[in-house]
Amino acid sequence: MCGIVAYTGTRQAAPLILAALKKLEYRGYDSGGLAVMSDGVITVEKQAGKLRALEEHLGDELPQGVTGLGHTRWATHGAPNRTNAHPHTDGTGTIVVVHNGIFENFAVVRELLSEKGHEFLSETDTEVFAHLVGELYSGSLEGAVVGALRQMEGAYGVAVISSHEPGTIVAARRGSPLLVCVGEGENWVTSDAAATLEHSRSVVYLDDGEVAVVTPDEYRITDLDSTRLEKTIATVDWDLSEIERGGYEHFMLKEIMEQPESISDTLRGRLLEEEGGARLGGLHFSDEELLSFERIVLTACGTSWHAALIGEYMIEELAQIPTEVEYASEFRYRSPVLNDKTLVIGISQSGETADTLAALKEARARGARTMGIVNVVGSSIAREVECGVYLHSGPEIGVASTKAFTSQIVALTLLSLKLGRLTNLSVLQGRELVQALRRIPGQVREVLGRADRVESIAEEFKDSTNFLYLGRGYNFPVALEGALKLKEISYIHAEGYPAAEMKHGPIALIDEKMPVVFMAPRDAVYSKIASNIQEVKARGGRVIALVTDGNDDLDGLVDYKITIPETLDPLTPLLCVLPLQMLAYQIAVKRGTDVDQPRNLAKSVTVE
Ligand code: F6R
Repeated sequence: MCGIVAYTGTRQAAPLILAALKKLEYRGYDSGGLAVMSDGVITVEKQAGKLRALEEHLGDELPQGVTGLGHTRWATHGAPNRTNAHPHTDGTGTIVVVHNGIFENFAVVRELLSEKGHEFLSETDTEVFAHLVGELYSGSLEGAVVGALRQMEGAYGVAVISSHEPGTIVAARRGSPLLVCVGEGENWVTSDAAATLEHSRSVVYLDDGEVAVVTPDEYRITDLDSTRLEKTIATVDWDLSEIERGGYEHFMLKEIMEQPESISDTLRGRLLEEEGGARLGGLHFSDEELLSFERIVLTACGTSWHAALIGEYMIEELAQIPTEVEYASEFRYRSPVLNDKTLVIGISQSGETADTLAALKEARARGARTMGIVNVVGSSIAREVECGVYLHSGPEIGVASTKAFTSQIVALTLLSLKLGRLTNLSVLQGRELVQALRRIPGQVREVLGRADRVESIAEEFKDSTNFLYLGRGYNFPVALEGALKLKEISYIHAEGYPAAEMKHGPIALIDEKMPVVFMAPRDAVYSKIASNIQEVKARGGRVIALVTDGNDDLDGLVDYKITIPETLDPLTPLLCVLPLQMLAYQIAVKRGTDVDQPRNLAKSVTVE
C-alpha cells in the first residue's frame, strides 16, 4: 500500500525520509520517490521497484535541503514505472505532491486542464491534482490545496510542498490515513506512525475533511472552510514489530480481517444505484463489442481458478452468455477453439502467474479477445490483455490468497452485472444486486467478528488428518477453496467436492473421524444440501455447517454450526469463505506451521 512521509525541520531531509519510508516497506509497494527543497528549487528523484533501487540511483549524492517529502507507491492508475511514481509536480515544478488513495474524477479534471494547456507526463490521478494546485496557486499554498481538493472526488491522503513557501507542508485527508508527528524544532506528516516512531511518539491524527499546515515550529489543523480545530496530541504506545502486521500475528490474519475494506475498495466508484448497473473504467470494450461475444472463457490457477468457477455461474445466470472455466496450465497446451467472438478473461492476483499469462497469449494468438481481472497494476498480465478490471485490494503478502479471492468474486459480480444489464437483467434486478453488494462489507465485518466460534472448532479438529468440504451451486467452488486453504497452510489433507458427488466415491471415506464442512446457506439448493448432510450423519461423519442466521432446522443434525447473514445467492460465497479462511488459519497456528510462507509455496508462481 502507498506510504507518505514528509519532513520539515533543521536536519537534512533526504536521509531521514528514506529511512522513514523503509519503515513502511512491510506494506508492499512497487516504486518509491522523494523530493527535497533547497534555495527555492525542489529536486525530485524517483525509481520503479524497491527503495534499494532509488538508493542505488541516488548513490552518495543525496539532494540537499531541510524540507521534503517521500512516497512508496502501490500502483492504482498507470503501471508501476518511474514516470508514474510519486512525487508528482505541476507543470512549473514549483508544486510537489504525494498522494495515497484514488481521485475518481481525475480524467474529467485532466481533460479540463489539458484544454488550458497543461501537459501531463504520467497516467496518474495524482499528477492531475498537482497541476490543479498549480493552476489555483495565487499566493497561498493552503488555499490552492483546499481549492483543488474541493474539485476532486474520491479518497485521499495528500502532502504538498512548494518552492513558493519553503519550510511548509500542507496535508489533507479524506478516507486515507494521515497524521502529524510532532517533534522538537521539526515536524512530520505521515500516513503511518511506524515511519516516524523513532523520532517522536507524539502524533495528531487527522480526521476526514481536515487540513494540516505544518512548519518546523508549529502545525495548524483546520477544516476545509479554514476553521481552526483544536486536536489532542496522542501518544503512540506500540512498537514497530507489532504494527508491521497491523498488530496481527500474521499477514494472512491481517489480510483476512482487512476484507471489509478491501472489498469496499474493489467496489469504490463502480456501483450505479439508479441504473442498477456497474461502471468499470478499465473495461474498454464498447457495449456493442461486449454484446458481440458469443462465449466467455475464464482462465486462472489455484484460488483465482476457484473465483473463476463462481464467475462462470454468475455470468451464465445474470447475463446468459455461455461461459466456461479453464485451468490456465491446461488451456495453453491444448488446442482450444477460439475466434474473435470469444472473450478470454485471465484472473490473477499477482498478474505474474506464468501459466495464466501464457494462456492469454495463446488465446490472443488464436484470435480471441482478452481481458484481465488482476490485482497488481502494471503486472505482466495487466499489460498483456486488451483491457481489464483491477481489484484494488491492496498488496497481498501472505502466500495463501484470502482478500484477493473475495475481491475477485466482487469484480466478477460487477462484470456479470454490467453484462447482465446489456442482456437480460432488469433495472430492478440490477438494483437489488447493487444494494446487496453495498451491504457486503458490513456483513463481512459481522462474520469476521464471530471468529471465536471458529476457534473452538479449530481446537477440536486440529489433529485431524483429513477433511472434506462440500457445497453446491455457488458454494461448490467455496468448498474447493476451503480445502485448498486448509491443505496449503496446515498440511492436512483436504478435498472439496460438489456435495452430490459424494455419493459417487468420497462417501466411502466417511467415518466418525472425518470432519465434513458443509456450505448450507439458505439459497436455491438449500434443501438439496440438507439431504447431503443427512447422508453424512447417517455414516457417522462429524458435520460443521455454515448456515444462514436464524436457521435452526439443522440443529439436531450438525455437530458445529457457524452462521452467516442473509444475502443474494451469488454473493453467499463472499460470506461462506470467511469462516473457512479463519478455520484454516487457526488450525495452522495451532499446529505451529509457517502460516505466511508455507513450505514449498511461492506467492507468485512465475514458472510453469
Ligand atoms: C492459494 C494461492 C494460489 C494462487 C495461484 C494463482 O492460496 O494463493 O493458488 O491463487 O498461484 O495466483 P495468481 O492469482 O497470482 O495468478
